[in-house]
Amino acid sequence: MAEVVVSAAEPAGRVPGGASVPGHTEWSDGVLVAPMKRRHLRAVASIEAASNGHPWSRSLFEGELRMPTSRHWLIARDHREVVGFAGLMWTLDEGHITNFAVHPARRREHIATRLLLAQCRDAVDLGVTSLTLEVRVSNSAARSLYSGFGFAPGGIRRGYYNDNGEDALIMWLHDIGGEESSQRRTRIEAALPVGVVATPGP
Ligand SMILES: CC(C)(COP(=O)(O)OP(=O)(O)OC[C@H]1O[C@@H](n2cnc3c(N)ncnc32)[C@H](O)[C@@H]1OP(=O)(O)O)[C@@H](O)C(=O)NCCC(=O)NCCS
Repeated sequence: MAEVVVSAAEPAGRVPGGASVPGHTEWSDGVLVAPMKRRHLRAVASIEAASNGHPWSRSLFEGELRMPTSRHWLIARDHREVVGFAGLMWTLDEGHITNFAVHPARRREHIATRLLLAQCRDAVDLGVTSLTLEVRVSNSAARSLYSGFGFAPGGIRRGYYNDNGEDALIMWLHDIGGEESSQRRTRIEAALPVGVVATPGP
């Protein structure tokens, strides 16, 4: 997860070039991946507080939702309950996964996998070619998730996390729209015990 960076709010608007992204994916077990809205923020902040030692505040998430030309946030929900979220910040062709968590009671149900599949798909649609992120070196669960998608270590930020001074591992996934990366995501999706029912569009 990225340390908090406060940026100036941007006016709401269309993404560059007027592009739109699918945003939604409905799965056969009833889980829906969809764009994050203000109404989800109470649950999002609660999952964040339960997941991260140095959690982002609700107002920080609110600020992110006011920057739609450079941020793309997704939630996963099971019927009405929000069970996870993932954030993407992008500039031109470079994207950064900024925050990502699944409700502690709903882990190991492939929720994160489904959020990351959707973020990668949407990032490609937004013109992103490379994705990067920081992850605590001790976070073997997240590192394993990202490695499975082809993210590779690209460096260390020493003492990056303010709460305990832990180092961050920087990971990169290049050419996300390329054949190798796309095929990897196809294999990941095919191996899931659940299937996509619909991608209804933006
Ligand atoms: C990391 C996290 C998002 C994974 O969410 P999840 O929905 O449980 O993950 P999935 O079920 O989709 O698992 C996908 C892969 O991640 C890895 N993984 C997930 N949890 C794991 C664990 N406890 N131990 C080892 N590997 C794990 C596995 O490779 C798994 O693939 P597999 O099911 O084929 O073994 C979740 O544990 C979480 O919210 N952690 C706290 C917040 C956090 O660390 N966020 C990331 C910040 S960079």
